[in-house]
Amino acid sequence: MSVILGIESSCDETSASVCVDGAILSNVIANQTIHEAYGGVVPELASRVHQQNIVPAVQQALINAKVNKNDIDAVAFTRGPGLLGSLLVGVSFAKAFALAKNIPLIDINHMQAHVLAHFIGDNKPSFPFLCLTVSGGHTQIVLVKDYFDMEVIGQTLDDAAGEAMDKTSKILGLPYPGGPLIDKYARLGNADAYKFPEPQIPGLNFSFSGLKTSILYFIRDHVAADPEFIQKNLNDICASVEKRIATILLNKLAKAAKEYDIKDLALAGGVSANTGLRQGLLELCEKNNWRSFIPKMEYCTDNAAMIAIAGYYKFLKGEFTGQGVAPLARYPL
Ligand code: KG4
Ligand code: ZN
Repeated sequence: MSVILGIESSCDETSASVCVDGAILSNVIANQTIHEAYGGVVPELASRVHQQNIVPAVQQALINAKVNKNDIDAVAFTRGPGLLGSLLVGVSFAKAFALAKNIPLIDINHMQAHVLAHFIGDNKPSFPFLCLTVSGGHTQIVLVKDYFDMEVIGQTLDDAAGEAMDKTSKILGLPYPGGPLIDKYARLGNADAYKFPEPQIPGLNFSFSGLKTSILYFIRDHVAADPEFIQKNLNDICASVEKRIATILLNKLAKAAKEYDIKDLALAGGVSANTGLRQGLLELCEKNNWRSFIPKMEYCTDNAAMIAIAGYYKFLKGEFTGQGVAPLARYPL
């Protein structure tokens, strides 16, 4: 029997989760709303709020899982990539807990954990599979050969898909984080109302900076002609932007699936919460007779359940780290 405590604090979500024998029994996520006023995550504020939230989040995760802190066998934590001050809070907590209880520490790569979220529950993809990992900081097509054997075969050359969502929403005057709001308004609009360009990037890589500029100019020109353009057409703009971002992502994923002859396709990361993208992957897989894997909403955005499940697979292999471990702001797969 194994009881793993998972800790996530890489950006602006403080999260704790308990995993018993590969089953997630709790996943507590404390969101930080303080950043809304600033239009983006303020790193110094994020680490202070993590410091306030981490102990209550862990206590609640233990209560929800009905697990006593003395029964935990190992602590898994996000080592990186992420904001260093935020990571330090989770890493320090994990080290202190492991030291106090004399149990092993397991370091986890946050981007690997997003992929391994697919191993929560019964519907698991088979190796090798492709995972489109799309978050606020990353846009990657990952060839997943085994639990901890992953290769990035395509990635963004500039902005991440989530950044494109958030920057578009900023242009539209919406609060941060804008991705969920674009999703909300897109449901009410016509996705074919406006055509935004698809960047022509060779191979399996992505680019979103040109799209952002074209959206900026499009809005600027229309608002110059009609100051109420955004208010009148918000739903159609969001639907059209969402459709373009989703098609950019899915066209490359389909290309990768054909090139690598892979039939199991997965989504991961915060942007995989997007309704248009989820729907698009389902349709793509149906058309090609591929299998699609889309995590439950609570495992799409940052959460400790994915850290705990990744920790479980490392625990089975006996792969532990020591008290000397330090967080890494940059941490390749
Ligand atoms: O993985 P995540 O929670 O944090 C990072 O590691 O970056 O991803 C956050 C990103 C943000 O850019 C947010 O706007 C986007 O995911 N996002 C969405 C949706 N929910 C979150 N984008 C589009 N539609 C959504 N429903
Ligand atoms: Zn993430």
